[in-house]
Amino acid sequence: MEREFILIKPDAVQRGLVGEIIKRIERTGLKLIAMKFIQVTKEQAEKHYEIHKERPFYPGLVSFITSGPTVAIAVEGMNAVVKTRNLVGATNPKDAAPGSIRGDFGLDIGRNMVHASDSVENAKIELAIYFTEEEYKSWSPVTDAWLYE
Ligand code: RTP
Ligand code: MG
Repeated sequence: MEREFILIKPDAVQRGLVGEIIKRIERTGLKLIAMKFIQVTKEQAEKHYEIHKERPFYPGLVSFITSGPTVAIAVEGMNAVVKTRNLVGATNPKDAAPGSIRGDFGLDIGRNMVHASDSVENAKIELAIYFTEEEYKSWSPVTDAWLYE
């Protein structure tokens, strides 16, 4: 079982796509283990996007991600990272496959609606930026027997 961090970015909140995005995540069978509506702080954004610090788009990325409310989500399940990244689609919506969130709803790389950690290790690091241990809910969906062999 893997854990994945997902952030519904300010553009998707503004566009009323929160429900649509959560629906797509939830119906995969991945289990929600934490979720909250937050405005990302500058400190959180700088930690989250530290690997992009030297890139030309970094200042715009930090100011965008802190510009309005977002939804932070933690999910757990089999292959949670790859499964979620496939659901989200390629970074640039112009390259994202139809059926993916970015492919269906996006146009511009700087307004690509959803963040999802790109590896199990980065998910661990990013989850720690946004959630405390107490915020995770431990529960057993009754559907598990029908999702997992
Ligand atoms: P994310 O981290 O947001 O899930 O997106 P990602 O893994 O698909 O893409 P990543 O390379 O990590 O880039 C992080 C975010 O920076 C913005 N970006 N802009 N203008 C550009 O060339 C450029 N490249 C990346 C995107 O908003 C991307 O989601
Ligand atoms: Mg990334």
